[in-house]
Amino acid sequence: MVNDLKIDFERVFGAEGQGAYFAPGRVNLIGEHTDYNGGNVFPCALTFGTYAIATKRDDKKVRLYSKNFDQLGIIEFDVNEIKYEKGHDWANYPKGVIWAFNESGKKITSGMDVLFYGNIPNGAGLSSSASIELATAVILKDLFSFDVDMIEMVKLSKQAENIFIGVNCGIMDQFAIGMGKEGCAILLDTNTLKYEYAKVDIEGASIVIANTNKRRGLADSKYNERRSQCEEALKDLQVGLDIRALGEIDEATFEANKGLIKDYINVKRAKHAVYENQRTLRAVEALSNKDIDLFGKLMNESHVSLRDDYEVTGIELDTLVELAWDQKGVIGSRMTGAGFGGCTVSIVKNEFVQDFIKNVGSQYKENIGYEADFYVAQIGDGARKL
Ligand code: GLA
Repeated sequence: MVNDLKIDFERVFGAEGQGAYFAPGRVNLIGEHTDYNGGNVFPCALTFGTYAIATKRDDKKVRLYSKNFDQLGIIEFDVNEIKYEKGHDWANYPKGVIWAFNESGKKITSGMDVLFYGNIPNGAGLSSSASIELATAVILKDLFSFDVDMIEMVKLSKQAENIFIGVNCGIMDQFAIGMGKEGCAILLDTNTLKYEYAKVDIEGASIVIANTNKRRGLADSKYNERRSQCEEALKDLQVGLDIRALGEIDEATFEANKGLIKDYINVKRAKHAVYENQRTLRAVEALSNKDIDLFGKLMNESHVSLRDDYEVTGIELDTLVELAWDQKGVIGSRMTGAGFGGCTVSIVKNEFVQDFIKNVGSQYKENIGYEADFYVAQIGDGARKL
């Protein structure tokens, strides 16, 4: 892969590329819509992601090229003119990371040529954007010899996404992609950023990702709406409770105080955030006890809560998950990521994976009218120089 990309680099930029870099995509096993509520998440990095070849330049030109968007050609700008430009499309992500480095005092003073290639299915909710961001962060660290650790790069990438791009995401995606570890998921407390690795010991079973292939049309506005509903619920609860985030309370405290929340829709949103957070802790404990059936049951409960209380699923995700629940050998299945489209994640016993893909695939096509895509996922390492 890297050798092919070096050849492409030379063809596109007319000179040899120096360093090769990689940042993965991510899948979240459980803990959905908890990362902006001060709760826990349990994602892992994948073995597919974004590759990049980069060379520092002596002048001020930044030239970016993506093999995935070759119709857009080379996108060029001056290193001193870092501003969001709609026409620069995907290149706003690396640009945003340059901006975030500058803002933090790590000034990018000269230009660079960078070629990107990603094999994460685009727009599938497996974080291709956070993956480009972390790939860029690792490139900048290397080309400009910055003394910056991975957690700081994770935060800078999130800042790029929140402020430069204007998407109000939590920290889960950037964290999983920066800090991922082969064979492990990361239990991250988004309130404190304390984290621990947990081996995903599911011997005899696989993680199967299914892509609805649904365009995530209104996803961003609905995402922001859910965030503000949780914020309103928190404000109402704070009248009676001394808390700073929904992630600080357990189910019993929520049930005893939910009467404080004025809007009944907000009660459902907050309920999901509180219950999902506790569910995530229980799921990680189940995994460490090798109780994979309980882990799967909690995944299923997570989906029901995202469907009925948080209302971020939709017919495509529900169809994939409900078909999955009916298949032999399925330990658990749920939507993953922001929702409204994107992917599901299922744990399936190895001997049933092929039947799973065949049956769920054909029934999904029959019900929805177009195909789903399936990937048997491997858990890989985080962003790095190759
Ligand atoms: C998106 C966001 C994450 C997180 C998930 C939902 O992937 O980027 O920060 O909020 O949705 O869990």
